[in-house]
Amino acid sequence: MSGQRRSRILLLGAALTCCLAVATVTSAASQGSSSGLVGRFLHITDIHPDEHYLDGATVSTSCHTILNNTEDVPTNNLRKGRFSFPLKQEQDESESIDKVLTIQDMNIIRPGLMDIGINGNAVGGYYGLPNTICDSPLALADATLSWIDRNLVGSIDFVVWTGDNARHDSDNTHPRTQEQINQMNDAMAKKFLEAFPRGPDGKRIPVVPCIGNNDIYPHNIMYPGPGPVLQHYSQIWSEFIPEDQINTFLRGGYYMSEVVPGKLSVLALNTLYFYIHNVAVDGCHDKDEPGTEQMDWLEEELKQLRKRNMVAYLVGHVPPETKSYTKSCHSRYTKIALEFQDVIVGHLYGHANIDHFFFVPQNMKKKNNFLEEWEEEEEEDQALSVMDEDDHDPFHLLGLSSYLQTLWKQYNSIPKNAKPSDYAVIQVSPSVVPTYQPTMRVFTYELADGTTSSVDTEDYLPGCKDDVMNCVADIIEQELEDYITVMLDNDAELASELQPMYKNGHKKPRAYPPAPVSTFGYPLSYTQYWTNLTLANESLMPPQFEIEYQTREDYGLQHLGVSEYLALARRIAKNKLLKKEYLKRMVVQSENALVQFGDVLA
Ligand SMILES: *[C@@H]1O[C@H](CO)[C@@H](O)[C@H](O)[C@H]1NC(C)=O
Ligand SMILES: *[C@@H]1O[C@H](CO)[C@@H](O)[C@H](O)[C@H]1NC(C)=O
Ligand SMILES: *[C@@H]1O[C@H](CO)[C@@H](O)[C@H](O)[C@H]1NC(C)=O
Repeated sequence: MSGQRRSRILLLGAALTCCLAVATVTSAASQGSSSGLVGRFLHITDIHPDEHYLDGATVSTSCHTILNNTEDVPTNNLRKGRFSFPLKQEQDESESIDKVLTIQDMNIIRPGLMDIGINGNAVGGYYGLPNTICDSPLALADATLSWIDRNLVGSIDFVVWTGDNARHDSDNTHPRTQEQINQMNDAMAKKFLEAFPRGPDGKRIPVVPCIGNNDIYPHNIMYPGPGPVLQHYSQIWSEFIPEDQINTFLRGGYYMSEVVPGKLSVLALNTLYFYIHNVAVDGCHDKDEPGTEQMDWLEEELKQLRKRNMVAYLVGHVPPETKSYTKSCHSRYTKIALEFQDVIVGHLYGHANIDHFFFVPQNMKKKNNFLEEWEEEEEEDQALSVMDEDDHDPFHLLGLSSYLQTLWKQYNSIPKNAKPSDYAVIQVSPSVVPTYQPTMRVFTYELADGTTSSVDTEDYLPGCKDDVMNCVADIIEQELEDYITVMLDNDAELASELQPMYKNGHKKPRAYPPAPVSTFGYPLSYTQYWTNLTLANESLMPPQFEIEYQTREDYGLQHLGVSEYLALARRIAKNKLLKKEYLKRMVVQSENALVQFGDVLA
């Protein structure tokens, strides 16, 4: 490298120092914005309200048809449950009552259900039938939102709502239509608007909805945007999607919501473009694929947030599991998750119904520490596949058991000296739909501003608290590399000089340390709420949600960072009693589901 060029680079270093100082001033200016925050947010997912649900209908008909009991025909909509918004009732009851489905029919609809002795003749109650394939009665959706209205509104700062607001396609006699799906989503969006009204200042707390794989017809299949589906969601969610994000949303169904301006963002992903079952798109490799575009967008947003000294939650419907995302999307997600640990403070997902956490990278290893590529290990049987509703019935003993076995394998394989910076933890919240029992989750996050002290290195060098010298060197190195990349594009002579250093144009990934716990927005704990539907049905009282467990009190987690979860996974793997507790919470206290786990526990 010529002396002249070297001095250009040194000059750049000086220029950087100056810009970092400017950044300090900017971030200090935005610090007044956290007043009025309470440090909590709600994560709710998979409500699956079902307009055809009937009180007293049998499981074998997905709770859509009352069998063998013509005396008991409901004469009005009351038995379907209340719902404050009139929904078009397309079902002709007299017709479906005549249609007698047998358990054999049910075997075709959901194979595996009968293998483990689920009683297909069981009938659902007014608020739903726990531990079955039946979706949520409107009465349950209503009661859930009204409980939130009475108990959480005013004590949360924002809402993460990760999709699936229509029923499953489990009943051949009641095929779904896009119109019904739209209607149900519309009704749920109105419910949320009603539950979280505008305050006296004309402002509403941010609600961040995502599209689920059952929010489209046919389920799982979503074509690249723009199109009528995204158009519809952009309209019914116009109060939730920030105005400046509408065009992004119309194109890809994803967007960013700055839930605490200048400090904390939620990046709402459209996981359908990563989803392996979406045959309308093809992964995250080709430039013009919507999955690739979304990943590019995500990376760009995260870079901007890093520059602005902000942190973010990544949220979506389908969790980033090796078997759920296409290989290219999964590896890109993993790479982003690890490269932006200083910005991403949590990964929150739904879809799988069971309450659990897992880590990325899973079954991945670095090719070497210079190239930023990841590759999958050969060993196929170590892959952790999602408990996917399309592939495995939640009650299919084999499906659930093998999923749990692979999860234990992951927990077991975590080395004692595992470095938190090598992992990201994915939190999967259980559902409202009573696959087990209805649930919701309330997180607490750090409100104190770790960057208030003017001499704190955190002020201008995020993540540099512990190892300032190396960290500063890293940042300068990274900025230089970025600068060099630009030069390589514009200066052929220099490019040939530098080429050996930057093999194939790959740069060493910048190792930003994970955000420290003291960072504003850092997740500290959550409280898992549940309701016992058997009780609600007996008493005919609207279900009341109560605490099922708390991460601090019941798992001893000091915060929800990777280090705490690595330690917890190791404890669960070792301690039979704790594992049993964890399993019970996975299936939301459903004893009958738990008895099936004997082999996993053994
Ligand atoms: C309900 O109908 C099925 C199929 O027709 C019949 O086998 C069964 O005995 C009936 N059950 C009752 C309780 O009437
Ligand atoms: C749920 O309520 C039912 C009916 O009262 C009761 O039998 C059952 O034990 C309860 N389940 C749990 C886990 O508390
Ligand atoms: C709901 O309660 C009714 C009345 O107590 C009872 O007959 C029915 O079996 C219950 N259903 C469920 C699913 O618990």
